[in-house]
Amino acid sequence: MTTEKAFVQRRSIYSLNSKINLSYQQITSLIELALKHAPTAFNSQSARLIVLYGKSYQKLWDITLRALSKVTPPEKFPQTVTKINSFKQGVGTILFFEDYKIVEQLQQKYPLYAENFPKWSEQSNAMLQYMIWLLLSEHKIGASLQHYNPLIDDDILHAFHFPKSWRLIAQMPFGGIAHKAEEKNFTPLKGRLKIFD
Ligand SMILES: Cc1cc2nc3c(=O)[nH]c(=O)nc-3n(C[C@H](O)[C@H](O)[C@H](O)COP(=O)(O)O)c2cc1C
Repeated sequence: MTTEKAFVQRRSIYSLNSKINLSYQQITSLIELALKHAPTAFNSQSARLIVLYGKSYQKLWDITLRALSKVTPPEKFPQTVTKINSFKQGVGTILFFEDYKIVEQLQQKYPLYAENFPKWSEQSNAMLQYMIWLLLSEHKIGASLQHYNPLIDDDILHAFHFPKSWRLIAQMPFGGIAHKAEEKNFTPLKGRLKIFD
């Protein structure tokens, strides 16, 4: 597939199932490729990932639903349950983190850019998210980007044991595509792009 086609094909897929053509090992290899080659400010390589399959992945969404039950108005909760259950029908979830130990080291080493390092760290993490999203999409695996942090941060740390310096940035549930994405509206490019000769 050309990169152009891959850009167009990638969508947010919310309705997942367990039917995919790749093994866990093949998915992990794609994730490793992206993690290794994603660009980072000062080549800091501050992104950290946790990939959850099987029981661990179910546990993540149980934790999320429990946390949401405490903050969601009761009349809206059934919708929330439906959304979380659609993720649970998939295959796995990738947790994206940034290691603030690295970010803080850079801030100390290069005080001139101290304010920028947290922003650059988020930007580079977003690039990694997109690389992985594209790779999954190319292999006909549906995914979406979720942000239940910071609501779930403490419970996730307790459940999955990772260094305290890792900050959760995003969650990407993935799996087979049960329903295609709906039509997307596009803001006209006129006015969004300027070209000078
Ligand atoms: C930075 C960022 C944050 C997003 N956060 C969420 C989110 O928390 N929950 C969600 O369902 N989708 C989230 N999305 C997905 C967008 O809603 C989606 O990409 C957009 O509507 C365009 O649809 P598409 O992904 O199908 O092209 C996020 C996307 C980006 C780039």
